[in-house]
Amino acid sequence: MAADARATASDAPPISVRGLVKRYGDVTAVAGVDLTVEAGDVYGYLGPNGAGKTTVLRMLLGLIRPTSGEVRVFGRDPQSDPVGALRGVAGFVEAPKFYPYMTGRKNLELLADLDGGDARSRIGEALDIVELTERAKHKVGGYSHGMRQRLGVAAALLRNPQLLLLDEPATGLDPAGMRDMRALVARLSQAGTTVLLSSHLLNEVEELCNRVAIVRTGTFVFEGRLDELRASMGGDWRLRTTDDVRALAVLAEAPGITNPRADGLEVRFDASEAAVEALSVRLVEAGLAIRALAPHAAALEDLFFSLTEGDANAGAVQGPGAAGDPEGASGDPESAAGNPESAAGDLENAAGDPAGPSATPGEDA
Ligand SMILES: Nc1ncnc2c1ncn2[C@@H]1O[C@H](COP(=O)(O)OP(=O)(O)O)[C@@H](O)[C@H]1O
Ligand SMILES: [Mg+2]
Repeated sequence: MAADARATASDAPPISVRGLVKRYGDVTAVAGVDLTVEAGDVYGYLGPNGAGKTTVLRMLLGLIRPTSGEVRVFGRDPQSDPVGALRGVAGFVEAPKFYPYMTGRKNLELLADLDGGDARSRIGEALDIVELTERAKHKVGGYSHGMRQRLGVAAALLRNPQLLLLDEPATGLDPAGMRDMRALVARLSQAGTTVLLSSHLLNEVEELCNRVAIVRTGTFVFEGRLDELRASMGGDWRLRTTDDVRALAVLAEAPGITNPRADGLEVRFDASEAAVEALSVRLVEAGLAIRALAPHAAALEDLFFSLTEGDANAGAVQGPGAAGDPEGASGDPESAAGNPESAAGDLENAAGDPAGPSATPGEDA
C-alpha cells in the first residue's frame, strides 16, 4: 500500500492548496490560503490561536469540506478521492485520542488492525522511534501529555507515511517534552518524511522548519523561508570581536550599518543581512577576529507578534509561556465520528483517532 503510494505520487507535491476558504456561518476560519509543501519540507504553519491552523489541517485530511478553493494531497482531492489522496498520509488534529484503559501497545495494535496491510509489523519500530518502547506496556491513562503526543506520532508512523501532518505537536509539553518532540520531527524528516506542522510558538518552528507560513485570521502575513524573513527585516545585530573600539570604527565606515553602539561586552547595530555579510569581510580585513555575529534573537519574535497582533484571538498568544493554553475554545469540531461531512471511517484513523470520541466517553479527563 505504501509502496504503491510512493509509485503513484511521485511528481505531485505532497500538498498543494489554492484559494482555500472555510466559513462557519459568518466566521471565516480560513480566508483564501495558497500553500505548496514540497517533498522533504518541514513546513511550519504558524499563527496565534484562532488563526485557522486546525481548520486547514482538517481540510487536508478530508475531515471537513472546504467552502471554496482547491486542496490536493499528492495531486488528489481528499474529498472526492480520500483513499487515493490519503494513502501515505498520517497525522492528527488537536490531540490524538486513545483508549486510556488499554496499554500504549494495545492501542497501536487496534489502530494497526484498522489500517491493515503490514501496519502491525511496524509497531515495534514506531514505539522505538518515539521512545516509548518501555512504557508501551502501561495503560495510556497514566501517560503524560507528552507521551500521548508521541504515541500519536507512533500511531501515524504505522501508516509508514510520506507526509506527516501534526497539529501543534509541542503545545502543552514541558521543555523536555518539547525537546523530545523536536528531535523526533527532525529524525523523521532526515529519514525522508515530509512534515507539515502547525504551531503558535515561533521558537518551535524556528528550529525545525525550512519554510513557514505565518497566518493571522485565516490569511498569510508571510510565506517563505525564515532566513529570507530575517534577511528582509533589517534587524538588530550583535557583534563580539577581539577589540570593540576598533570594531565600532569599522562599523562607522561600513555601508548599510546604522546606529552602532557599545552594549556591555558586545557591540550592537542595525543592518540588513546583506550589509552584515559585507561587514564581516571588512572586520576580518581590519584584522579583527569575530567571536560572535548574530541577529538579536528577540527581533524575529517581535516581528512575529507585530505580524499577528490585532488578531481577534491574539490575546491567547502572549509569548513562550502561552504554550499550555487550551485552544479548544471553538468547541470540539474534531468530533469527526459525528461529522456528516467526514467521508470515510479511514479518515478518522488518519487523524490518529482509534474509534472516534463517541466510543470512549469521558476518556480525556
Ligand atoms: N466547527 C466550527 N464551527 C464554528 N467555528 C469554528 C469551527 N471550527 C473552527 N471555528 C472557528 O474558526 C476559527 C479558526 O479556528 P481553528 O482552525 O481551530 O484555529 P487554530 O487551530 O489556528 O487555533 C476560530 O475563530 C474558530 O472559532
Ligand atoms: Mg488549532
